[in-house]
Amino acid sequence: MTEEKRRSIGVGLIGFGTIGAGVVKVLTSNATVIEQRLGFPLRMVAIADLDTETDRHVDLSGIRFDSDAEGLIASPDVDIVIELVGGYDVARRFILSAIAAGKPVVTANKALLALHGKEIFSAAGEAGVDVAFEAAVGGGIPILRSLREGLSANHIESVLGILNGTTNYVLTEMERTQEDFEVVLKRAQELGYAEADPTFDVDGIDAAHKLALLTSMAFGAELSFEQIPTEGIRRLMPIDFELAREFGYRIKLLGVAKCHREEGAGERIETRVHPTMVPLGSMLANVDAAMNAIEVRGDAVGPTLYYGAGAGEMPTASAVVADLIEIARELQRGGAGPVAPLSYLAHHLVVKPLVAQDELNGRFYLRITAADEPGVLAKVTGALGAEGVGIASVVQKSGAGEAARIPIIILTHRANEASLSAALAQVDQLSDVAEPTLVVRIEEGD
Ligand code: HSE
Repeated sequence: MTEEKRRSIGVGLIGFGTIGAGVVKVLTSNATVIEQRLGFPLRMVAIADLDTETDRHVDLSGIRFDSDAEGLIASPDVDIVIELVGGYDVARRFILSAIAAGKPVVTANKALLALHGKEIFSAAGEAGVDVAFEAAVGGGIPILRSLREGLSANHIESVLGILNGTTNYVLTEMERTQEDFEVVLKRAQELGYAEADPTFDVDGIDAAHKLALLTSMAFGAELSFEQIPTEGIRRLMPIDFELAREFGYRIKLLGVAKCHREEGAGERIETRVHPTMVPLGSMLANVDAAMNAIEVRGDAVGPTLYYGAGAGEMPTASAVVADLIEIARELQRGGAGPVAPLSYLAHHLVVKPLVAQDELNGRFYLRITAADEPGVLAKVTGALGAEGVGIASVVQKSGAGEAARIPIIILTHRANEASLSAALAQVDQLSDVAEPTLVVRIEEGD
């Protein structure tokens, strides 16, 4: 790097949406404090986006703005490239192109990294440039930096938390207002929380993308998000929130990753994303709206908790700019090469056996939608009992469902997932049962 460059670092942004606008705002409004920490200014010099018309309500003076992303990557005054295009193909191409040009990349694209991370990180490793992605998980919460640095002395035992702001907002609002799912989702989209394709949020896919990255970083485990058993929040109804509260819980979409270290069996990884009942008094139960919270347990440190805005313009921009600052510092020092982006050196990231969902045990909330006929409850409880699934509570809400259909709510004792599945296969085949039973797992905490 030349002496000339050391006087400032030039940043180029590809993808000028909500988060991109936030990045420009933070770089402008916090320029002084950033320079006080860095010793030189970070300047946005160029932006590329196919839409050059929409007014983003940010000051673009001194910034080139056109639709030429490859031109931006090639510009000599662009030292670091930010990719905020989202999606898979185009974003992947731009990132690989920047790496090939020897330019470090900052991205928030968890979907891309969860699918093509191996290719991108190995290209970056070979080229000796950094790829940073703090904004990909937990919005503004510095969770990846904590795993990679603050907790790097530990064997990580578990990572568990609320990883999606949109669904947490929807769950909080549905519980509070009893409004329909679609109405609340629309509001979350308007607030700028949701992915371009909101099915990624509501079906748990975005949380699975994030959990895949966390799992790799926590346990040195190479895995694809498609291997994570994932359920979303679409099937939840107001009655579920009401009953959850009666039983002493709130419903949250949790991502859970645990490392099972068994004598003689090595390490096995448990991962899952699903709606979960958490005790009313627990910390996770009190994480509302678009906030995220992640609990990480390490063998030396014990439990640690990270809480903050998991989505939205400025919190996500905060994480993007933090990555820029870290990379700019590296460049200033002469760029000794990238640190391990997934916390483990590439050859220590290995495929580890997964714990099958069927092996897990826990308590379950069940909502069975059945005909309001004599004898139905006996058939349901009989099927559960035959598979060894014990019942802790039963609530039958007459008049709460459609005419002639009633929700039967059951809280089980601790039971095995495979036994529950076998029992529900029988329950759902009963002629009196109108739709597949809703299952919500219960996480009691320690
Ligand atoms: N759609 C994501 C969320 C954005 O709602 O959490 C932040 O990753």
